[in-house]
Amino acid sequence: MTRALIIAVDGPAASGKGTIAARLANHYGLPHLDTGLLYRAVGVGVLEQGGSLDDQQAAEAVARALDAASITADERLTNGEAGEAASRVAGYPGVRAALLELQQAFASQPGGAVLDGRDIGTIIAPDAAAKLFITATPEVRATRRWKQLTGRGETIAYEDMLADIIRRDERDAGRGAAPMVQADDAVLLDTTDLSIDAAFDAARRIVEAARAKNGL
Ligand code: C5P
Repeated sequence: MTRALIIAVDGPAASGKGTIAARLANHYGLPHLDTGLLYRAVGVGVLEQGGSLDDQQAAEAVARALDAASITADERLTNGEAGEAASRVAGYPGVRAALLELQQAFASQPGGAVLDGRDIGTIIAPDAAAKLFITATPEVRATRRWKQLTGRGETIAYEDMLADIIRRDERDAGRGAAPMVQADDAVLLDTTDLSIDAAFDAARRIVEAARAKNGL
């Protein structure tokens, strides 16, 4: 039986992984799941209930009740505060457990899928045929995110953006539950000096090599 083409795209905030994952999905005609949105929806859900991000049980309850089909990448979930809230609740094992099945079901669709996040190649889809770990320097990532957020009217100083990015990296990589780490068999792609087109091209070549290796 031919294995389905599952493409796992992991990496830190503003590394370019979301854009690359979306373009790979389009190129290969595969469904795409931005798993960061799930954690963002949980963090924002807790805040909207008037709850505290320190309250693990509240976060787990929101995660268990999440209606994935209703999640869209709108301003409510893509702003800076939502990213910070996501990173706080993402450290709770109960939240991760509640979101695991949903992500694994998405990954195991018959035709394959593209998922981007922090633990796709390690936990969600360890058998993925193609695994990429996308990175870039914190300064370049902060510049990208700063342009994105200020471009749509958010007010944030570059220095604060950089501090946010570094703090989020440390939290995501340092947590006990599914820390952000490059899978042993993932290919590292540094987008620091690459345009979006060049980064996508490099990613596509990595996937092509994985397809050839796996006979897909
Ligand atoms: O990728 P994005 O910036 O939208 O992710 C927001 C936060 O959600 C991350 O900082 C991380 O803490 C968490 N996350 C995670 N595992 C994933 C995707 C996102 O822990 N697979």
